[in-house]
Amino acid sequence: MASDDPSKLRSHVWFNGREYYNFSRRANLRSLGFNRDIFKGKPVIGICNSWSELNNCNAHLRQVADAVKRGVWEAGGFPLEFPTISLGEQFMKPTTMLFRNLMAMDVEESIRANPLDGVVLLCGCDKTTPAQLMGAASADIPAIFVTGGPSLSGNYKNKPFGTGTDGRKIFDLYRTGQVSEEEMIEIEGCMVRSAGHCTVMGTASTMASITEALGMTLPGCAAIPAVDSRRYAMAELSGKRIVSMVREDLKPSKILTREAFENAVMVDMAIGGSTNAVVHLLAIAGRAGVKLTLEDFDAISRKTPFLVNVRPSGEHLMEEFFHAGGVPVVMKELLPLLHRDSITVAGSTIGENVASAECFNRDVIRALDAPLHPTGGTVVLGGNLCPRGAVIKPIAASPHLCKHRGKAYVFENYQEMHDSVDSMDLPIDKDTVLVMKNGGPIGAPGFPEWGHIPMPKVLLAQGVSDCVRISDARMSGTSFGTVVLHVTPESAIGGPLAVVRTGDEIELDVEARKLNLLISEEEMTSRLAAFKPAPPHYKRGYGKLFLDHVTQADEGCDFDFLHRLEE
Ligand code: FES
Repeated sequence: MASDDPSKLRSHVWFNGREYYNFSRRANLRSLGFNRDIFKGKPVIGICNSWSELNNCNAHLRQVADAVKRGVWEAGGFPLEFPTISLGEQFMKPTTMLFRNLMAMDVEESIRANPLDGVVLLCGCDKTTPAQLMGAASADIPAIFVTGGPSLSGNYKNKPFGTGTDGRKIFDLYRTGQVSEEEMIEIEGCMVRSAGHCTVMGTASTMASITEALGMTLPGCAAIPAVDSRRYAMAELSGKRIVSMVREDLKPSKILTREAFENAVMVDMAIGGSTNAVVHLLAIAGRAGVKLTLEDFDAISRKTPFLVNVRPSGEHLMEEFFHAGGVPVVMKELLPLLHRDSITVAGSTIGENVASAECFNRDVIRALDAPLHPTGGTVVLGGNLCPRGAVIKPIAASPHLCKHRGKAYVFENYQEMHDSVDSMDLPIDKDTVLVMKNGGPIGAPGFPEWGHIPMPKVLLAQGVSDCVRISDARMSGTSFGTVVLHVTPESAIGGPLAVVRTGDEIELDVEARKLNLLISEEEMTSRLAAFKPAPPHYKRGYGKLFLDHVTQADEGCDFDFLHRLEE
């Protein structure tokens, strides 16, 4: 309920009163140099900052925080910035995904433990956005997101060069001797031109778009380039808005409804979002107490056209998506299919927010009746090789491989794959199905982005640029190819992937949503019965907590004890 009564503020308990601790807290806050007026009923707004020099994608967020502060002060609030762990996709080992839940716990408890009435969350790189969404949903005080935006578009020899996507393509040419060492050194300096997240529709751009679609940012936030002046203006507006949200008591639990998640999945399908979004959305929904399943993704995928012509599934980069109108235009196109009455942090509905959105480039954002593809970007598979599901992004796959039968060549783990994939003696051909085990949450551990098994050199030399690849790992959202991911249950806990042998036949049929290992039921049962798990990767510390409590991909890989409990 809307309230201007300062005694109703959550922070009131910390600072107002005649107890020793009230006095002591006031004294310690004043040590930061504030005068006593700050205690006159101003809502305390936390700015949860994932800035870090170990995370280049989020390296501009101190400046974004300054703009948020301007807005908070303007609106009569009192801003206090605080750090959390940050997860730099490019640097962290073994994988940032191992630490997404740790960051989500850090965000949740930092919000809950401190005298905050509302919070503005600053994120950007792949895992920082879902981790903050998970933490904010669990803490459930008024919260608004300012995503960091894509970095300046890469450019090499006067051609746009997308982070990840084009880097991988050029690296394949380098591996096969078609690009020189000198050129690669020059490209290093051309690919990532500023702070900000990847410039294609990878996981970071997808999660930013999804955050906007969920209603957790102001309209138009997702696609503004990281260093564009309009991102700072957006941050200032978000700082102003959170103060009103505190007065309106507009919490994540009022925004993150089942309808909001359906909207987000639909936008994910229309933008050709990263397969990682499936895992993250399942986890966020679990925190919000919303039942969302892989079946929901597939049902929404079947009825949502793919509209956004951005790499890796299209031609352009995020900057063109921004200039074409960004997420508001996509949502306006989707309005006949969306829940238009879903409320957003703006205090208005999705339908109201996008009513005046205008498309400025139809090559980048297609109309609903002229899509790039009639159905959505991600497909959920079933079958005896993935009884609890697997995902594939057919719009980034080779159409001729989407219905395919071939003999498996098995790598028992990532190291084995890495050590042999460039061997010219690898006994495979264009029809071989490459299978890699032990890439899941428990097996790797941490569910890394190993699923984009590099194309073997022996095939590249024959001019074969894609083949069917299957694993229980994830794949970078910037990647492409006929790649089946998130096979669940994973091999390390005895899922059927564990018992695939080189020479077995595998059948993939994307249209029919099937992934099958073509052995008899008796043979499958006897192989599964003989399965023995490897010893755990961790015996202590956070790693052990992760192994003991992480859920499988079809449940979002959150910890089992962090799902919202039934009231
Ligand atoms: Fe941070 Fe791609 S590496 S978004």
